[in-house]
Amino acid sequence: MCGIIGIVGREPVADRLVDGLKRMEYRGYDSAGICTLSGGQLVRRRAEGKLANLTREVAEHPAPGEVGIAHTRWATHGAPTEQNAHPHATGEVALVHNGIIENFKPLRDELLALGRKFESETDTEVVVQMLSRHIEEGKSPAEAVRTVLPRLRGAFALAIAFRQDPDMLIGARLGSPLVVGYGEGETYLGSDALALAPLTQDISYLEEGDWVIITREGATIFDVDGNEVERAVTKSGASAAAIEKGNYRHFMQKEIFEQPTVVAQTLRSYVRQLERTVALPQIDFDITSINRVTIVACGTSFYAGMVAKYWFEMFARVPVDIDVASEFRYRDPVLEPGGLALFISQSGETADTLAALRHCKEAGQTIAVVVNVPTSSMAREADLLLPTHAGPEIGVASTKAFTCQLAVLAALAAHFAVKKGRLSKDEERAIVDHLLEAPACLNAALDHDDDIAQMAHLIAPARDVLYLGRGPDYPLAMEGALKLKEISYIHAEGYASGEMKHGPIALIDDHVPVVVLAPSGPLFEKTVSNMQEVRARGGKIVLISDAEGIAEAGEGCMATIEMPKVHPLIAPLVYAVPVQLLAYHVACAKGTDVDQPRNLAKSVTVE
Ligand code: AGP
Repeated sequence: MCGIIGIVGREPVADRLVDGLKRMEYRGYDSAGICTLSGGQLVRRRAEGKLANLTREVAEHPAPGEVGIAHTRWATHGAPTEQNAHPHATGEVALVHNGIIENFKPLRDELLALGRKFESETDTEVVVQMLSRHIEEGKSPAEAVRTVLPRLRGAFALAIAFRQDPDMLIGARLGSPLVVGYGEGETYLGSDALALAPLTQDISYLEEGDWVIITREGATIFDVDGNEVERAVTKSGASAAAIEKGNYRHFMQKEIFEQPTVVAQTLRSYVRQLERTVALPQIDFDITSINRVTIVACGTSFYAGMVAKYWFEMFARVPVDIDVASEFRYRDPVLEPGGLALFISQSGETADTLAALRHCKEAGQTIAVVVNVPTSSMAREADLLLPTHAGPEIGVASTKAFTCQLAVLAALAAHFAVKKGRLSKDEERAIVDHLLEAPACLNAALDHDDDIAQMAHLIAPARDVLYLGRGPDYPLAMEGALKLKEISYIHAEGYASGEMKHGPIALIDDHVPVVVLAPSGPLFEKTVSNMQEVRARGGKIVLISDAEGIAEAGEGCMATIEMPKVHPLIAPLVYAVPVQLLAYHVACAKGTDVDQPRNLAKSVTVE
């Protein structure tokens, strides 16, 4: 995913464009660039690598002008070089793009045949060349845009500057988000409200297929058919402060420590504390008619879905299918009437998950979405929107969104069970009580941060690490492995602990640390016996359990991490903390870029 911003301003814009990119660097950070309009010319500055390189470039080679566009890139087509950095430009048009033009090859061939010259390997450059061709043939910017947009396939959010019209910009969206911001005699374009937070809180969210002309007087919005339309202006509520690190070293660290607060504030929207009942937003369909749930997500959100599968089937006795989104459509799933399709996403913009959502919608499924950005594409296409209230999650590695997702999913599963008559009032009250214990238990888990920091050196040198768990803690083992992989670059795998003896135990020697998640409870003994099988073969065990579990099975482990004693229902939420902290401290020990790990982006808006 990339970040784009545009400003039609009343004063020089270069610094504010670069500042806007800083708030979007979590969306991608392979390269960055700006282009302003000054003295009848397009003034472009670009730099490979982190945004600091562009900041230095602009300081050395200023880009004057009160109108401009800017971009921070997560590379799709073309290596992350300056040549491939956005904005892409000709003498007449400059453009920044978030998304992917899937039919760029035939379009490029057509333009090459017309004698047009390309300077980059990117898909994006075909758009700027197509627009330039029409401008050079005498079309106005609006006519050129109206001509080109229908020919593009794939996903795009665009911000476009035209040399001949220095007091306007044009934006367009299909499949990638784009917002319009309204200031005092200024108007803005941005990938999200956060990008524009210091400039304005007055935001319009463009719909699929919309394009817009912005000037100092405001915005004129057109729908996919070219009809002028109105889009509501709302207060975004996005605050620049929400995306500051405060006293923390990294956004990820801040977001790990925010979990007690944000899980509590999320639960407030899903349980009635006095009545001790679950309470979901208004549901406009008959839950009792739902005969199957299909869960689709990616990455960490997928692991939250794996946990939810246990809860739906245990509490509500509703069969659940679960898929990673990138595989889902390609197995041609059987989607019978009466099914609920449940999508879980922090960003609400993940292309694989969004495509699966649309596939299910076309198949007549009822669509429910658990999402952290209530204005996202997925949120706007849901029949039932279940927001998490984690606040902006900036660190690429998802943490607080995950535990908030679990809180919402537990309440949803319990609500299903109540409506289907599978849960008594007492059982419902017990579930609510356990959920309400989660924030305090998360706090208690965070108290072990120093212990975990002290043992990171045991893991940091490893080339391979295994994580083991059983039942709802098995997805936690997968999540712990993903956290370690994505921020410390150490290879790690999560396994169902009972699966080790079917092959993976061959991996065990004294160079392979094995992290075992084993809260006291019905599955403890079985998990510990799997752990003993590993230890008998020289495996170095890190046992994560409560005091009782550590007393029983901690002897001989390389390290132990003590957790508060928790009810099995909330163990997946609480045991997320030690695996997050372990990954965090190992990454710090290794000196990797915790908030912006190599090759990654916060939300992957290309399939
Ligand atoms: C999680 O730490 C990763 N950053 C990644 O796996 C992420 O969970 C995945 O890309 C899904 O993102 P989403 O929740 O925004 O859809």
